[in-house]
Amino acid sequence: MAGITDGAFCRDLAGEGFDMVTLGGYNADHPTIQAGHEILSRGRPEFVVEEESLVPYLEDQAQIVRENFKGSISVNLRSITPGPIIRVSKIREVDVVEVNAHCRQKEITRLGCGQAMLKDSIRLEEFVEEIVEKAKSRVSVKIRANVAGIDEVKIAKAVERSGANYLHVDAMLPGFLRADLDVIRSIKENSSIFLIGNNSIKDVESARKMLNAGADGISLARAAIGGSLDFDLSRI
Ligand SMILES: Cc1cc2nc3c(=O)[nH]c(=O)nc-3n(C[C@H](O)[C@H](O)[C@H](O)COP(=O)(O)O)c2cc1C
Repeated sequence: MAGITDGAFCRDLAGEGFDMVTLGGYNADHPTIQAGHEILSRGRPEFVVEEESLVPYLEDQAQIVRENFKGSISVNLRSITPGPIIRVSKIREVDVVEVNAHCRQKEITRLGCGQAMLKDSIRLEEFVEEIVEKAKSRVSVKIRANVAGIDEVKIAKAVERSGANYLHVDAMLPGFLRADLDVIRSIKENSSIFLIGNNSIKDVESARKMLNAGADGISLARAAIGGSLDFDLSRI
């Protein structure tokens, strides 16, 4: 969660039993950092770290998490080119870089970044392929479901062909306070990439429903926004 999930936040949550924690999202190049300033100035939380400081900053944040966590450390990143994401993948304590093809803030989408990357599956595939080829870490791609005009299965196949390790799907169902499990089912039926299902997981029951729909793993954000979790992950 931009502006919230920094190293200290993730370190303090690590004891809840997660396999992976995600830092960010962070803006990784000049245009997205500029967009981050604009988003912040209209009152939405954002991390604003300047381009030349990002790698040393993330080295520190990952080290803070590592003090208390043996699992995987992921960093969610917005960038209009692969280079800055590849640079972050070379940080020693970073296990996964996550391409943000999910953000819907207009300052980001008008750069062709965030969920705007879903509009062109060929470009997305090439973008991720370059990262997979050059990265030192594993690679995840985070997408949002139910974006008008987007076929999630086509995107999932493109991400799978790119060689990414994970497809992370925010199965948002606009107008409902529950995940779109049909999207998870159809992605699972049509691809074999490791699928992380996300949205509205707040207890054991909602987590199990996501796994039963075909997700290989689950993630959650808002249920942990207060810095702790009020259910036991080991019961899922
Ligand atoms: C304040 C806030 C900031 C967020 N920032 C990001 C972000 O930077 N990158 C990202 O991939 N998702 C971001 N998300 C989306 C969450 O990671 C998650 O996909 C979404 O909230 C649905 O999952 P949940 O129901 O478990 O919260 C953000 C969500 C919130 C509430």
